[in-house]
Amino acid sequence: MKTVSLTIDGKEIKAPQGQSVLWAALDNGIYIPNLCALREKATPDASCRLCWVEVEGESQPVTACTQSVAEGMVVDTKGAMALRLARTALELLLASNVVDCANCPASGACELQKIAAHLGVKLKTKRFRKLLRNLKVDSSSPEFTYDPNKCVLCGRCIWVCRQRLGIGALGFAHRGFNRRMSTFGDEPLAKSACQECRECVDSCPTGALCFK
Ligand code: SF4
Ligand code: SF4
Ligand code: FES
Repeated sequence: MKTVSLTIDGKEIKAPQGQSVLWAALDNGIYIPNLCALREKATPDASCRLCWVEVEGESQPVTACTQSVAEGMVVDTKGAMALRLARTALELLLASNVVDCANCPASGACELQKIAAHLGVKLKTKRFRKLLRNLKVDSSSPEFTYDPNKCVLCGRCIWVCRQRLGIGALGFAHRGFNRRMSTFGDEPLAKSACQECRECVDSCPTGALCFK
């Protein structure tokens, strides 16, 4: 496979041609915040808006999951504009999410904690008015719980269930502020097409899907 040479945060690396800047950085020990990216996905959703980087020669930051590496490219993951966009995206997410790390089984492995620490943002940020959705927790599955109040709408579980497994038990329902990950007809998981394989739980970056 043909490789290209580029620089990320001053580090010279080689990456396969066609790879995104996000995976090239992560593969070389350089962290870029991300929630919606999955390696298997041919086309990234680019919906979380957290993976901003600055590329020399570009006037605006770009999302690392949609930007392909190129020979001689110079990438800065810590540019002021990129960090400002990522912090705003994170704080907007946190404004509508329950943040209760002390009582959350995902604490310590939650991607939101990692991203907040990386960006220097408080998980209980007060920048935007808190607007919680107060949605019902689904504990109907014998294997796992789904707390939609901790869901960041990354879509990873939906993609895994539908595209990787071909089951399609999960999908997005409703629009705007009411948008949420759900089952067909908003049925409890135990009454849905779910086959309890639990791969969606493994894919969830937050405490929204947790093993019992
Ligand atoms: S446990 Fe498996 S079948 Fe059930 S929703 Fe998750 S990925 Fe789909
Ligand atoms: S339940 Fe988890 S994996 Fe699924 S959309 Fe929400 S945060 Fe993403
Ligand atoms: S990982 Fe790039 S927008 Fe979500």
